[in-house]
Amino acid sequence: MHGPKPTTPLDQPHKQPCKMAMVWDLPLRLFHWLMVCVVTVAAITGYLSSEWWLSLHVLAGYALGYLLAFRMTWGFLGSYYSRFSSFPLRLRDVANHLFSVLRARPETHAGHNPVGAWMIVGLLTLMILLVVTGLIVLGGQENLGPFAAIISFKVGDFFEDIHEALAGALIGAICIHLLGVFVEVKFFRHPILKAMISGQKPVPENGSGKGRVGLIRGAILFFAVAGSLTFAGTKLGALPSERWRPSAFSSVYSSECGDCHVPYHPSLRLAANWQVLMAGLADHYGEDASLEEEPRLQIERYLSANDASRFDTEVAHRIGRIETKSNRMTDTPYWKKHHRKFDAEIFARQGVGSKVNCDGCHRDAAPGRFDDANILIPNEAKTNRDKTKG
Ligand code: HEC
Ligand code: HEC
Repeated sequence: MHGPKPTTPLDQPHKQPCKMAMVWDLPLRLFHWLMVCVVTVAAITGYLSSEWWLSLHVLAGYALGYLLAFRMTWGFLGSYYSRFSSFPLRLRDVANHLFSVLRARPETHAGHNPVGAWMIVGLLTLMILLVVTGLIVLGGQENLGPFAAIISFKVGDFFEDIHEALAGALIGAICIHLLGVFVEVKFFRHPILKAMISGQKPVPENGSGKGRVGLIRGAILFFAVAGSLTFAGTKLGALPSERWRPSAFSSVYSSECGDCHVPYHPSLRLAANWQVLMAGLADHYGEDASLEEEPRLQIERYLSANDASRFDTEVAHRIGRIETKSNRMTDTPYWKKHHRKFDAEIFARQGVGSKVNCDGCHRDAAPGRFDDANILIPNEAKTNRDKTKG
């Protein structure tokens, strides 16, 4: 093959690039580097941190979702080389390219080379699946986000494994991508890393100017896409749902069961367990908490009618529906797992008093939500509010 003729299609390989020209438009480069930052944050908060960091992980996920939605539309409305239609994806292109690499005389492509183009398709697909499964887990397990109303806890739980498997696959794919860039730059001296910064690449004569698209068009498109997604997601998330509902405690319940410790949300036990507890108030964990018959029955009815089986939340599934010999939530394996790091000193701090005062750290314990974003451990080591005698 000789030097490029003016008639050579742009996505065809060329051996003697004529001049440097703009290939990667500014919106595409911004997308690329913002995505690198956001994926890094998502990976660190996903792998290395406890659920505490979930809010940051979710934020990174939303940001990635917006970026990907932009990239998908830019694949049709962006400049020539950003458009998917310019990707050399045919199997024959891939074979030719690999063959040229094996002969150590790799073809030069103005846009992506065929292997690189497939890599981009794979990376974009994996990231889209990660965002979607992440939203399913967030909606199902945490009752948050656009799918909060329509995805059940069970489905969310199931998708957590898929989300994690996809994360592993993405990290693998990123490693291959980096290896590819390294080989191109080091061995074949294709300045593709610089090109993703300056946008400039060697292109055939007729290819110049094809990558020049203004930032304004990109910005307008980005905000249009992000705005529509936010609108649709908010509408979807606000659909009426029976999974979790705000419910005020009955007043007898708060007054009779809120003296020694916080009144627990009824979704923290099953009706049968509440009934056992209400039948044994005379010896209630070493205290006499007995009540008159009328308020006792009223409370039992209230707790049974709003028990763990009526809420599709993480805490109702993992703590409320789990039976323990002692009939304590704090003896469930899930509770123990999440609180094993804390010693008596932390539970005794001002504002907590005891491990049974969930609202000392969970600011949304009363409505039965226990969202990760609402955990706040008081950090003063004072122990003056000893609410619980037990
Ligand atoms: C006289 C004080 C008192 C009253 C009134 C009282 N409790 Fe308790 N309750 C306790 C003590 C003490 C414990 C054990 C606390 C500990 O282990 O630190 C406890 C523990 C519990 C637990 C188990 C907490 C865990 O560890 O998982 C539940 C559930 C519970 N109470 C429900 C109720 C309900 C429902 C009422 C109202 C009918 C009520 N309590 C009224 C003193 C009281
Ligand atoms: C001393 C503060 C403190 C007290 C008291 C406390 N928690 Fe927690 N809880 C935490 C912290 C911190 C975490 C997050 C730890 C983690 O995820 O590893 C947590 C995690 C949880 C989670 C998991 C949340 C999620 O989505 O991952 C649940 C459910 C929970 N607590 C329920 C309770 C209940 C019920 C009580 C009362 C019986 C309680 N906690 C008392 C501090 C506390």
